[in-house]
Amino acid sequence: MSGDSLKNDLTKVLNEATELVQKTGNLSDLEKLRVKFLGKKSLLIQLMKSLSNLKGDEKISAGKELNNAKKIINDLLIDKKLSLTDSKNNLKDDFDLSMPGKPSSIGSIHPITKIMNQAIDIMESLKFECVEGPEIEDDFHNFTALNIPDSHPARAMHDTFYLENNFLLRTHTSSVQVRVMDQKDPPIRIIAPGKVYRKDSDITHTPMFHQIEGLYIDKEVSFSNLKSIINIFLKTFFEEDDLKIRFRPSYFPFTEPSAEVDIEYIDNNGNKGWLEVLGCGMVHPNVLDIANIDSKIYSGYAFGLGVERLAMLKLGITDLRLFYENDLRFLRQFQRTEI
Ligand code: PHE
Repeated sequence: MSGDSLKNDLTKVLNEATELVQKTGNLSDLEKLRVKFLGKKSLLIQLMKSLSNLKGDEKISAGKELNNAKKIINDLLIDKKLSLTDSKNNLKDDFDLSMPGKPSSIGSIHPITKIMNQAIDIMESLKFECVEGPEIEDDFHNFTALNIPDSHPARAMHDTFYLENNFLLRTHTSSVQVRVMDQKDPPIRIIAPGKVYRKDSDITHTPMFHQIEGLYIDKEVSFSNLKSIINIFLKTFFEEDDLKIRFRPSYFPFTEPSAEVDIEYIDNNGNKGWLEVLGCGMVHPNVLDIANIDSKIYSGYAFGLGVERLAMLKLGITDLRLFYENDLRFLRQFQRTEI
């Protein structure tokens, strides 16, 4: 191998490589060229192997020439590979631009979540802080601390799902009241939205439903404060200034006095009726005392809103179970509605 003939050979190889690589239109042909020019049997690699026959300066300069040629071919191949994988070029080969695209459906927020978020927004604007509590509760937080001891008949009001070791699925969000009073000193002004569970199922009951608990404890909190906040909330939520709201005396072991609140609705046939949307009352002194809040200094009100009830009224739905059957034909009706 003489210096001149090596140079000639390399120039030929480089010219050929440049021309062929430029002409290639796809990746598999390009790979064939890589094998042809840089593979084990390629001229370049063969020449590199025969370098050992040369000596001294000749060996050094031939080595340089060969390495240089190898680098040039390698760069050519890399550049071409990049330009072929570049999306525009690739599309030419692999995609039929005239094919219709695949439609992808977008999920949406469940109507109950929308209603709940709306209720939370209103309460937050009334300066209630939003907190959460666990859905798996213990007997103490769900019952005992709310003035419902073991043998209390009010336990029968809650058809409870019991778990092992005195745990249960909370039957109401009132358990969060207890947790908040354990952690904070008054003034307390919170709402606690979330899922609750009862063994119940008919057109107005599902075994899982949602409540939003409200609790306000401070000095001199009165029943009229409670009435006014409920009025403001319901009128804002239903966007109706002359909404008919009825406070009906009721009983809860953890509030005294207690009330249930109904609102008037007109059904699809034009008939008027009342639907209960929440339970409420003044926090029972026993509940404050169990939480180490001095009931002689502080008083408070609490309420528990039924989110599904609000949703039924606002969306005109008569069977509550529809919300949880996951029938897309039902759910899609609310996909775009700003409810
Ligand atoms: N926890 C009651 C229920 O689930 C509602 C309620 C909450 C009543 C707060 C009074 C005060 O029925």
